[in-house]
Amino acid sequence: MRFLDACNRRPVDATPIWIMRQAGRYLPEYRAIKEKLSFIEMCEDPATAAEVTLQPLKRFELDAAIIFADILLPLTGMGIGFHFAKTGGPVIEKPVRSAADVAGLRPFDPLEHTPYLMEAIKLVRAEVDGKVPLIGFSGAPFTLASYIVEGGGSKNYEHVKTMMFSDPGTFITLMEAITEAVVDYLNAQIDAGAQVVQLFDSWVGCLSPYDYQRFALPYVQQIIARVKGRVPIIYFANGATSMLTHVAQAGADVYGVDWRIEIDRAWDQIGHDKGVQGNLDPLTLFGSQAAIEERVQDILDRVGERPGHIFNLGHGILPTAPIDNVKFLVDTVHRLSARS
Ligand code: CP3
Repeated sequence: MRFLDACNRRPVDATPIWIMRQAGRYLPEYRAIKEKLSFIEMCEDPATAAEVTLQPLKRFELDAAIIFADILLPLTGMGIGFHFAKTGGPVIEKPVRSAADVAGLRPFDPLEHTPYLMEAIKLVRAEVDGKVPLIGFSGAPFTLASYIVEGGGSKNYEHVKTMMFSDPGTFITLMEAITEAVVDYLNAQIDAGAQVVQLFDSWVGCLSPYDYQRFALPYVQQIIARVKGRVPIIYFANGATSMLTHVAQAGADVYGVDWRIEIDRAWDQIGHDKGVQGNLDPLTLFGSQAAIEERVQDILDRVGERPGHIFNLGHGILPTAPIDNVKFLVDTVHRLSARS
C-alpha cells in the first residue's frame, strides 16, 4: 500500500494522498446524516462513524482512511464536559483554570470512555483491509490544553498562556495528565486496528520557539517514545514553519507541513531521514483546476520523487470546498506523480 510505503520512505508507484478532515461537511452524504444526528452522536455510533469514514473513499481514489472521531473525545472521560455550539465551535462547559481544577481531572481510560471509537476502527478495518490503511489520531498536549483552559477556540490564547507563564507547575501537571491520556488513547486505537497514527498540534504555532521547546515539545516526545515502533507516527505542528528544526526533534516518522513554506525547504530542515506530508494551501481548492494543477506540480517538482512524501493539504479541508475540485486534486496528484 503506497501510503504505508511512503511512511516508511520506500519507493512508490505514485505519490499517496489523503486529506485532513476528508470526512465532513463538504460532502452532501455527510450533511444528510448530520441532519438526523449531532456530531457527537455520529461519533458515538460505531456503524455511523464507520460509514462516514468511508464516504470520501467511495468518491475519491484516496490512499488512506482516517477514522471519524475528534481530538476532544477523551475530554469527557477526564471529567471535562463539552459540546459543539450551533456555530460549530467546541465549548468546554467548565474551563480548567486553577491548580484545584487540574487536581480534579480524572484519568482517561480509552476502553471504558471511548469504546465506540475502538469498535468503529474495527468496522472500518474490516472494510478497507488490504486496500488502504486506516489512520487513528489524537490531539497533541498543547493543542488539547489550549481547548481545556481557554474553554474553546481562541485568538490570543490568553488563559492558557497566563497559566503557562504565571503558574508553570500547574500547567505542567495538566500537560502530564493529557500526555497520559494521549498515550493510552493512541495505543488503544492501534490495538483496535489503526495502522498509522497522527498527532494534531493545531494551535502550537502560537508559541515562541523558546516556549515550544519548554512547554510543548517534551510532551510530544514522550508520547511518541511510548507509542513508537508499533505503527508509523505522523506529527503535524500547524503554523510552526518558523521552528521546524525544533519540531523535527519530536521523534515522529513523518512530519506534516502547512503551506506557509516550500516543502523542499521544510524537508531540508526536518531532515531527509524522515518523511513529510503536505502541503497545498486548502484554499487552492476554491480556484480553477489550472491553478490547482500548477500548485500540485510545484510541490511534486520540489519533492522530486524523493521517497517519503505523502500529499495532503496544509490544513483541514473547508466545509465549502467544491467536490469536483477535490476529485480533480486527488486524480491530478496521482497522474502527475506516476512513476515511469
Ligand atoms: O479528518 C477526518 O476526516 C477525521 C475526522 C476529524 C474531525 N476532527 C471531525 C470533525 C479530525 C481528524 C478532527 C481533528 C480535529 N478536531 C482537530 C485537528 C485538526 C485541525 O483542523 O487542526 C481540531 C482542532 C478539532 C476540534 C474541532 N472539532 C473543532 C474546532 C470543531 C468545530 C469546527 C468545525 O470545523 O466544525 C470540531 C468538530 C468536527 N470535528 C467536525 C468534524 C467533521 C464538524 C462537525 C459538524 O459536522 O458540525
